[in-house]
Amino acid sequence: MTIYKGNFVWTSSPKQFESLEQGYVIVDDKGVISHVGTHIPPGYENAPVVELCSGAGEYVIPAMNDLHVHAPQYRNQGMALDLELLPWLNTYTFPEESKFSDPDYAQSIYSRFVYNLWKNGTMRAAVFATIHPEATKLLATLFDRAGMGAYIGLVGMDRNCPQELRNEANTIEAQIIDLIHHTKSMPLVSTIVTPRFVPACTPTMLSIMGKVAQEHHLPVQSHLSENKSEIAWVAQLEPESPSYAHVYDKYGLMSDSSTIMAHCCYSQGEELQLLRQRHVMIIHCPTSNVNLGSGIAPVRQFIDQGIRVALGSDVSGGHQLSMFRVIQYAIQMSKLKWAFTDKQMPYLTLSEAFHAATKVGGSLFGKVGSFEPGYAFDALVIDDSALSGWDKQYSPLQRVERCVYLADDRQIVRRYCQGREIPEPQI
Ligand code: GUN
Ligand code: FE
Repeated sequence: MTIYKGNFVWTSSPKQFESLEQGYVIVDDKGVISHVGTHIPPGYENAPVVELCSGAGEYVIPAMNDLHVHAPQYRNQGMALDLELLPWLNTYTFPEESKFSDPDYAQSIYSRFVYNLWKNGTMRAAVFATIHPEATKLLATLFDRAGMGAYIGLVGMDRNCPQELRNEANTIEAQIIDLIHHTKSMPLVSTIVTPRFVPACTPTMLSIMGKVAQEHHLPVQSHLSENKSEIAWVAQLEPESPSYAHVYDKYGLMSDSSTIMAHCCYSQGEELQLLRQRHVMIIHCPTSNVNLGSGIAPVRQFIDQGIRVALGSDVSGGHQLSMFRVIQYAIQMSKLKWAFTDKQMPYLTLSEAFHAATKVGGSLFGKVGSFEPGYAFDALVIDDSALSGWDKQYSPLQRVERCVYLADDRQIVRRYCQGREIPEPQI
């Protein structure tokens, strides 16, 4: 049991921030919060207190959760953004992912990837690896060693991509089961079923992956309705299907309320209704959507319909691992959508976007992403004194707003995941 003292700011609900100045958060030996309040409760008076905010500019927020990111695209981060999705995949992304047949290459990129998630304050992530089982297991090991949380996906793809990036529908089941065994002893790392997207997966691949997800009660992640050419292609490949999402549903990939779908820039009508019925979580990836010119997802509409929306960096379609920047882009792009739709669709507020990156994204991992009793203590200590050295009078809320727009890894002074302080991972 540990008692932390500090200035805590979080979002229990999307509507507003809550804050506790010079308050106490008690965390049990499993890393779960048992008490949040202005005083130390009776019985704990003599326990030692860990002071998280000794400096004037320090406060504590929930750690970031990145619900859509491609580890093998890390080397391409911040470059090769001059094409739309489909030619981008063929020209830049598939050739880079092919290199992960080499475990030494995977080790060098994946260790840097995990290090940089850590650096940017992302303590949990839902990650696409590649088709390569050895490299994918290595990625899981790196998260486990770092003490960070992850869902790791061995990617299924067997059509419309280079020969060396295809795996076989009849071997993927055994490979996923092997990954489940590999992650079994890892407390914060587990397996997620990961068909790349409909154009790259034959019906056989999709149905086997759906079966594996159901038999092993695994969550599912994929891409959905990101780009207009992609959507037209899916309509051609699956002419019987009423929508793109219905293809995943037909193969049992949306049945367990634990499916996360990235993008959904053009999801509407029947597709949106299906996502709602199946309790699919939409992962909004604003940096990627602007870089690849995909569009602006109607996030307000999703939220109004009761669909959960979390955020993803989608590196390397997205150019930044920092979830502060992803929150910032989510707000800014939704303001553009608001302006372009005659101000009919109210834009995302700061607390809504922050809530998406913390409590909504965290819900994939259990009770994660908030400072409430029962939640895992995943936290970042922020020191913004370098951003506001001339003025110590900012309120906690103003500080969080400045964090989203101005802070980077230099302002993150400590990181906690499941109650444990996470040291700098070794590359
Ligand atoms: N659709 C299929 N694969 C990908 C990918 O790697 N990135 C993005 N943004 N969309 C995809
Ligand atoms: Fe993606």
